Amino acid sequence: MKAEPMLKEGALQGKTIIVTGGGTGLGRSMVKYFLELGANIVICSRKLDVLEKTAQELMQETGGQVLPIACDVRKYNEIEAMLQATLEKFGRVDVLVNNAAGNFVSPTERLSHKAFDVITDIVLKGSYNCTLALGKHWIEQKQQATILNIVTTYAWTGSGYVVPSACAKAGVLAMTRSLASEWAKYGIRSNAIAPGPFPTEGAWTRLFPKQLADKLDPVKRIPVGRFGEHQELANLAAYLVSDYASFVNGEVVTIDGGEWLYGAGEFNAFDMIPQEMWDAMEKQMRGKGQ
Ligand code: HXC
Ligand code: NAP
Repeated sequence: MKAEPMLKEGALQGKTIIVTGGGTGLGRSMVKYFLELGANIVICSRKLDVLEKTAQELMQETGGQVLPIACDVRKYNEIEAMLQATLEKFGRVDVLVNNAAGNFVSPTERLSHKAFDVITDIVLKGSYNCTLALGKHWIEQKQQATILNIVTTYAWTGSGYVVPSACAKAGVLAMTRSLASEWAKYGIRSNAIAPGPFPTEGAWTRLFPKQLADKLDPVKRIPVGRFGEHQELANLAAYLVSDYASFVNGEVVTIDGGEWLYGAGEFNAFDMIPQEMWDAMEKQMRGKGQ
């Protein structure tokens, strides 16, 4: 399948969007589509060389404007500086996408407290730092705005072997829902997307090292039988940050091909039972109630 762009031309015209971690992976793919829809973009992360390369490539491909800024989302002063640079370049900012993340798989008892901090600092602290800095600005300016947080489905199911990430994403989801109530009176919407597996170098090298991917085959856990396509996620993100979604607030939209429910449903693994075995089992079971 090849997903098509969804929104109509110019759907994000005049909006300035900050995407944290926008130089790579899903962040980059969302940025590309936002540019195609007419938005001005600011991308930030720690590696300026990566950001500059992405900015150059995407400006060339789309004809849009991208400002790359080195900013570690764990450092509040760097976020304030990014906001100032954004205002100087584009005059305004309308949308924040909290997409930056860090993660690795490990049995929890093997983690040092520093390892736990490293992940929660990027994901939870990074997201609330950006949200707070931008929120204060928007409220002071009396400006309508939108926050989109990229979480995961284990924000609510939890998951072994990624406990710091699960704790942090759960916190980001709680923030999404809390601010949807508290800041709506200022015209600020907060929503989240919970993606299932979408191949990116960042996630794949850290979470599905080759020796594991060969053994576990993550596609088998997805009822639609494939990974997500970046354009599918970009379509959803563009909708949620656009004015078409102006009544959507406090929502978390799952885009995982049914993966988490498949893992949760008691009998879903019965998929593996062939028709002949169903015939035999039905014969055995029917009529037993009399
Ligand atoms: C146990 C580990 C570890 C591991 C690092 N540490 N890797 N502990 N198992 N595999 C520990 C170190 O020992 C150290 O603690 C502490 O973590 C920090 O170490 P660093 O050397 O700073 O870590 P480093 O490996 O350089 O960087 C970790 C990172 C990095 C910051 C998370 O990988 C990163 O920059 N990631 C950003 C991109 C990313 O992770 N993208 C994936 C997002 S995917 P001590 O105490 O020993 O000093 C995602 C998908 C979710 O979120 C859902 C998918 C379906
Ligand atoms: P990725 O390419 O590794 O993206 C993570 C980005 O975060 C990188 O660009 C990284 O850039 C940036 N980053 C890390 N630490 C930072 C910090 N302290 N300050 C600023 N930026 C920082 O991974 P991805 O797969 O695209 O993930 C994007 C988002 O989707 C994440 O929130 C992830 O949890 C979520 N997600 C992904 C999947 C998936 O299957 N891919 C599934 C569920 C959820 P620098 O290294 O330059 O800082």
